[in-house]
Amino acid sequence: MSDNNSDDPNKGLRRSSQWYGKDDKDGFAHRSWMKNRGMPADQFDGRPVIGICNTWSEFNPCNAHFRDIAERVKRGVYEAGGVPMEFPVFSNSESQNRPTAMLYRNLASMDVEESIRALPMDGVVLLVGCDKTTPALMMGAASCDIPTIVVSGGAMLNGHYKGELVGSGTHTWKFSEMVKAGEMTLEDFMSAEQDNSRSAGHCMTMGTASTMASFAESIGIALHANAAIPAVDSRRYVLAQMAGRRIVDMVKQDITMSKLLTRESFENAIMVNGAIGGSTNAVVHMLAIAGRMGIDITLDDWDRLGRDVPCLVNLMPSGKYLMEDFFYAGGLPAVIRELGDYIHKDAMTANGNTLWDNCKDTECYNRDVIFPIDKPFKPNGGIAVLRGNLAPGGAIIKPSAASPELMVHRGRAVVFESIEDYHERIDDPDLDIDETCMMVLKYCGPKGYPGFAEVGNMGLPSKVLKKGITDMIRISDARMSGTAYGTVVLHAAPEAAAGGPLAFVQNGDMIDLDVPNRKLHLDITDEELARRRKAWKGFESPYDRGYSKIYVEHVNQADKGADLDFLVGKSGTPLMRESH
Ligand code: FES
Repeated sequence: MSDNNSDDPNKGLRRSSQWYGKDDKDGFAHRSWMKNRGMPADQFDGRPVIGICNTWSEFNPCNAHFRDIAERVKRGVYEAGGVPMEFPVFSNSESQNRPTAMLYRNLASMDVEESIRALPMDGVVLLVGCDKTTPALMMGAASCDIPTIVVSGGAMLNGHYKGELVGSGTHTWKFSEMVKAGEMTLEDFMSAEQDNSRSAGHCMTMGTASTMASFAESIGIALHANAAIPAVDSRRYVLAQMAGRRIVDMVKQDITMSKLLTRESFENAIMVNGAIGGSTNAVVHMLAIAGRMGIDITLDDWDRLGRDVPCLVNLMPSGKYLMEDFFYAGGLPAVIRELGDYIHKDAMTANGNTLWDNCKDTECYNRDVIFPIDKPFKPNGGIAVLRGNLAPGGAIIKPSAASPELMVHRGRAVVFESIEDYHERIDDPDLDIDETCMMVLKYCGPKGYPGFAEVGNMGLPSKVLKKGITDMIRISDARMSGTAYGTVVLHAAPEAAAGGPLAFVQNGDMIDLDVPNRKLHLDITDEELARRRKAWKGFESPYDRGYSKIYVEHVNQADKGADLDFLVGKSGTPLMRESH
């Protein structure tokens, strides 16, 4: 590497120089210990230091291939004249973490924020994959606002079982209900496990991981085509290497995260989420990231912007294909091209081009996977935000995953006071329930579960399934997996544990759901609601120590992104005192 600074006027003037650019005792300490790795002295001459924030973990199978990806990012960083430094952060695994990975999203975000702030990096590449890792790392980085690129790990290859295309999560729910209905043996159920997960990568449905990878691409923080390249495709490694090169340029040009994540780019991401039939979880994650950026995105923006966006993508859980097919069909750029004038075309992206310039010439190679805008896969792709006396702060539903005939329905509430109560009674032959009822689940929101679990898509009672019925209305303060489907009202705010009206619903109450008119109404008088509120015994969390205690005491409600109240708002990266 030459000492020519002509392409890097800020060489030696960045954050990292405040560690490595000093000729005193502190500079000695910072450099000398790093040199135990055999790093030449010129690595500390002021060139950009790039953090590679890695969520690799063997307990997180979706991200277990990330060591290879990190190596490719490093190659790119070296090629562009930077110094890569890989560092680990908390890795939440959707499939392994209990009680729910979402409980730890904010913890991971704090790990990321504090690591970036405390360490001498000028830019950062975020390696993300499994559902919560993408929002957690973006939230933490947003709080610091240095140049940032997201590299997603990519989805698994398509699942195949007995000649049928099977999708992560989607077929877990489907097969489990088939077992309950007597349509599948337990032996077949168990044998489908391996067929469902046949390569490295994250869930290959348009679940939350794929949704968030698409979010990162559409909002401009990831490189072009990031969302759909399969985990094991060689082009995933090319993309990682290009990200390594590009982040060095972004540092030199001082392209910070807030220069890419503008209000317009959030609006683009919301509309793209509608067009891909993205996960309901994107709502809460995007609200949290916007909150960290100090951008006022609300549930009303989701409803307003998503209302007219048709769903173009025929992927599970709403459709029949998987992410591998999506990639071969043209991927997210083909969808964005279809959206045309829906989006803010001049929003900038990480590769230095506008979103529109990146996508405007992309071809679609399979119209059964990506539909044209004038002949969409489903008319309504956006998320509908419901309001009423049952959810004054809002609740959401994904119409593209729901049954059209249930979009307007009045039904009798069958109430479950907890998820355990649901499991205990759902298959009781004496449970007074039929397909016209509405299943109501309480105390599964951010504080109540705690951690806002993905249990809102409660399985149907066996006696209903055995009639051949596959959907009923379900209402809760929980989330649902992005791989799930059904007429499921989620994120009711305030949640039951915070004294929201959901806590006061009783068996036999009548509830009106009217999605076209965005209404969710508990048909009792205001006086009766007030009487029940007065008689409520309150909610006491069993968590009395550690992070879970802090979480329950400080978590915001779903309509505010379920972030911790003291983390909202961008804080920047002020240098701390020296320690030597
Ligand atoms: Fe990791 Fe689905 S379990 S993305």
